Amino acid sequence: MSDIVIRPAKEDDWDLVEEGLIEGELLTERPERRSVISRERLRENARKSIDRYHRNAKKPEAAFIAETGGVRAGFVWVTTEINFSDDDTCGWVLEIYVLPEYRRRGIAAKLLQRAEEWTREQNATSLWLNAGGNNDAALALYKRVGFSVETVHMSKRL
Ligand SMILES: CC(C)(COP(=O)(O)OP(=O)(O)OC[C@H]1O[C@@H](n2cnc3c(N)ncnc32)[C@H](O)[C@@H]1OP(=O)(O)O)[C@@H](O)C(=O)NCCC(=O)NCCS
Repeated sequence: MSDIVIRPAKEDDWDLVEEGLIEGELLTERPERRSVISRERLRENARKSIDRYHRNAKKPEAAFIAETGGVRAGFVWVTTEINFSDDDTCGWVLEIYVLPEYRRRGIAAKLLQRAEEWTREQNATSLWLNAGGNNDAALALYKRVGFSVETVHMSKRL
């Protein structure tokens, strides 16, 4: 799609970030658990993350909005506050989200490209993220744009 514009987020875009964080967290849960999870608790967690990594950020962070036809279609949010790498500074994608009706048009790939550029501008040499093991779309996206697996968390229900 040629009419995708990626721009920095404004303060009144953080409602979209909040919704995306809720959806993203839901997708890290096993499918059978999703319907029983309290959306209010997820909203509380989302607001805590926004307070911690945006409003009270200790290190640089940035969110970018994707627009198509002047309408918001998704966002990416990246910070330098989380560091699991050997580098002094690395980027960490806190969330990426594209509204369902705009998916599979290359928007997330463009957002990740912008997150990469921003991370390089912070003199970082790597970009990291977490993905739910059941989130096939996200896993396919990350693989497609060049991410590889570093650590796998596993669990056994007892
Ligand atoms: C994951 C997500 C961000 C992908 O957004 P998107 O804009 O649809 O992704 P793109 O169109 O840029 O996809 C780029 C490539 O990623 C892969 N991909 C993306 N979605 C896929 C899917 N549902 N199934 C298989 N591959 C997929 C494909 O290789 C795709 O290229 P192609 O369309 O040419 O085959 C979107 O599905 C989403 O917002 N999901 C809910 C939130 C979420 O899971 N966030 C990640 C949390 S870790």
